[in-house]
Order: sequence, then structure tokens, then C-alpha cells
Amino acid sequence: MPVLRDERLRRALLFMPGDSMKKIRKGATLGVDSIIMDLEDGVALNQKEAARLTVYEALTDADLDFGQTERLVRINPSGKWQTEDIDITVKGKPDGYVIPKVESAHDIQFVANTLTEYERQLGYRIGNIKLLAIIESALGIVNLKEIAQADPRLIALMFGAEDYTSDIGAIRTPQSEEVLYARSAVVAHAAAYGLQAIDTPYVDLKNMDGLIEDTQKAMQLGYSGKLAIHPNQIDPIIKVFMPSEEEIKAAQQLIEAHNHFQQSGAGVFSYNGKMVDMPMIRAAERVLKRAGLPIPS
Ligand code: COA
Ligand code: MG
Repeated sequence: MPVLRDERLRRALLFMPGDSMKKIRKGATLGVDSIIMDLEDGVALNQKEAARLTVYEALTDADLDFGQTERLVRINPSGKWQTEDIDITVKGKPDGYVIPKVESAHDIQFVANTLTEYERQLGYRIGNIKLLAIIESALGIVNLKEIAQADPRLIALMFGAEDYTSDIGAIRTPQSEEVLYARSAVVAHAAAYGLQAIDTPYVDLKNMDGLIEDTQKAMQLGYSGKLAIHPNQIDPIIKVFMPSEEEIKAAQQLIEAHNHFQQSGAGVFSYNGKMVDMPMIRAAERVLKRAGLPIPS
């Protein structure tokens, strides 16, 4: 697995409609890893223009403190709306853009080139604004290999299960077997090209057990974060991606033992009755990374 292009922790990323200043303000207070101010499907057609202006206003309001929270904007898919989305919001200098319904490398390169132009015009550092791509169609899945390599600004692939299911004509079930192939394909391509993988939102707002189970499933598949659509979903999601004290301790001890055996010239060793070699060490390192802790050397 190559090193991640961007190491920032993105465990929970909260969506809110871009035309709701109230929800954007609330999102800024929650200590969530990232917020995604939406200009796409969460905004009514007759509110698109108002939403762009609201997002610009939020990004430039000196009294609105987002703290450590990353400020992302979801734009519309390629087309006239997308151009207007960027034109207005880029002047607020967001940390990144989320591009929905990505189906080709070109979908990403077009936005990347547009941003380069603006960064030049506005005197921003070139390449600073990040891109995150939502894969949510059959074509998006089929073209993952070219999408994942499209541009250095791309730092994460996100999976959108609802749009994907409707695109392929599958039926959504609680077990999510109908999306397993696509959900895994997104993780595999993200891992192959050093991108983060962020899982689809859980839409049943009242079902917290269901949310936790679905997030655990995502983590087991290899995802490092999940989209959220309500403030109540943030803590449960972060908790799942945050390793427990025991997991952290076990990972630290394993790496220390590994370092010790390496020095004595042994690549593989037995630890607590189990054979340990590099894949397990890398998994332990990932546990510490998820916890935001240094790797013992
Ligand atoms: N971001 C920030 N604040 C949110 C929020 C969100 N996504 N969802 C709800 N809130 C706020 C509400 O404004 C309310 O604030 P208050 O207590 O200060 O009045 C509080 O959290 C409780 O909200 P609640 O009444 O439980 O929800 P709701 O009925 O107001 O909203 C949704 C339900 C689904 C409309 C709302 O959660 C939402 O807009 N989610 C995001 C939808 C979206 O962006 N979709 C596109 C991507 S899939
Ligand atoms: Mg979608």
C-alpha cells in the first residue's frame, strides 16, 4: 500500500445543505473532522444560487470559527452549475471540493485545471485546494483505475451507495450485499493509489445500532472514514474508527517487539503464541495512525 497522499484524519465528514447557514454554523461547533457544505442533491433547484452565496458567506465570515474542522464544498457534477459553484465559492478559499458522480479522470482533471486558473488569479498557493471524488455509478466503478490516478489534488475516494444502487437497478437491503463489490472496489483502488477511502452515509437517522454496525462493516472492509448526515451520527462514527485503548496498547507492544527482533536479525517471530510478520506490523501501524499516535521506532 503506497503512503497516503494526505494524512489528515477524516473519520466523520458531516454533510449539510449549503443554503442552511444555521446548519453550517452548527457544523462548525461540533468538532467533526470535516464538514461538507452541499450544493448538489441536498439543495432544491430554486435554491442553488442562494446556496452558493451562503457557502461563500460562511467561508468568509471572520466571526465564524471552524476550529480544526476542514471546510469542504460539494459542487454539482460537470456542467454549467459546477462552473458557477466554483466561481463563487473559490473566493472563500475552501480547503477542498467534493466532486459527485465522478465517472472519468476527465471529470477530476477539469475541476483541477479550473482551480489552478483561480489559484493563479487569486494569488493562492497552486495545488493547495484538495479534491475528493464520489464514486456512485456503474461507470464510476468500471473506470476506478483511471479516476484514482487522475490528478495530484485528489486525496480521497468516497462511495455513494444510494445513487449506485439506483444506477445499477439493484435493491437496497440492510445487509448491503448488493453494494459489496462496488464498496470493496473503491477501497482497493484508493489503497492502490495512496488515497483515503470514505464510506457512504447511513440514511436511517433514528437507527443508531444500524449506524454502528454499518460503520464497523466499512472499517472491516478497509475504509478510514464515513460520511455523516446528522450531528448525532458523528460520535458513533468516530468511536468505531478510533481504536480502543487495548488495541492501541497491543499495537504499540507488537511494534516494539518487532523492532527488537529486527535488531537481532529476525524478520518473523512468534509473539503471544502467534506468528508475526510484516503485514501484521503494517496493520498495527495503521491502528496507531488512526489514533493519531506516533509509531515507536
Ligand atoms: N448539519 C448541521 N446541523 C444539523 C444537521 C446537519 N447535517 N442536521 C441537523 N442539524 C441540526 C438541526 O438544525 C437542529 O439544530 P437545533 O437543535 O440547533 O435546532 C439539530 O441539528 C437537530 O436536528 P433534527 O431536528 O434532528 O433534524 P432536522 O429534522 O432538522 O433535519 C435532515 C433532518 C435530514 C434534513 C438534516 O439532518 C440534514 O439536513 N442532513 C443533511 C442532508 C444533506 O446534506 N444531504 C446531502 C448529502 S447526502
Ligand atoms: Mg449522490
